[in-house]
Amino acid sequence: MLEVGCGTGAFTKEILKNLCDGDEFHIVELSTEFCERVETHVIAPFRIKHPEITIELHNASIEEAKLEGQFDAIVCGLPFNNFPIELVQHVFAVMFGFLKPSCELAYFEYLGMLKLKRIFGFPKVRKETKLRWLDIESRYTQRNGSQVTVWRNIPSCRVIRLQACV
Ligand SMILES: C[S@@+](CC[C@H](N)C(=O)[O-])C[C@H]1O[C@@H](n2cnc3c(N)ncnc32)[C@H](O)[C@@H]1O
Repeated sequence: MLEVGCGTGAFTKEILKNLCDGDEFHIVELSTEFCERVETHVIAPFRIKHPEITIELHNASIEEAKLEGQFDAIVCGLPFNNFPIELVQHVFAVMFGFLKPSCELAYFEYLGMLKLKRIFGFPKVRKETKLRWLDIESRYTQRNGSQVTVWRNIPSCRVIRLQACV
């Protein structure tokens, strides 16, 4: 299992609850501060209780992380709406390179953000947002995407699952 961009560890804690002895869980996080926090408060206590589960935290960007092999599942918490579209495309290519065939990558997007920008943004923002939307949609179609809306999250979001095989 691979988590990309764990932040303060909200997803990490849920993933840990579902691991079994023998599992291997890698986490890649760019921020040293978040890494230290998650290591101290989330991973270290878990390791003591579950020595049979391997957990490795990589303080690096996903583009530069030294990961070996491929994973059965990837959960990504990166804020793609804040990334230039070329970087979004590159990061997805890198992540799919780490995903085994027939396996899934899940990420989330806050609801309504792109729609608001497409309606109320300046012309340059509207154009950029349209390209971003097309990019998301084409990846969704090519990767046989599925999604669920989580209304109770604040703000509400949609969780998107994409498949490794095209
Ligand atoms: C929206 S936050 C994650 C939220 C997380 N689910 C939580 O509960 O805190 C995104 C995280 O991705 C990290 N990040 C941003 N760019 C990254 C990259 N290229 N590779 C790895 N982590 C990255 C940021 O440092 C940040 O902690």
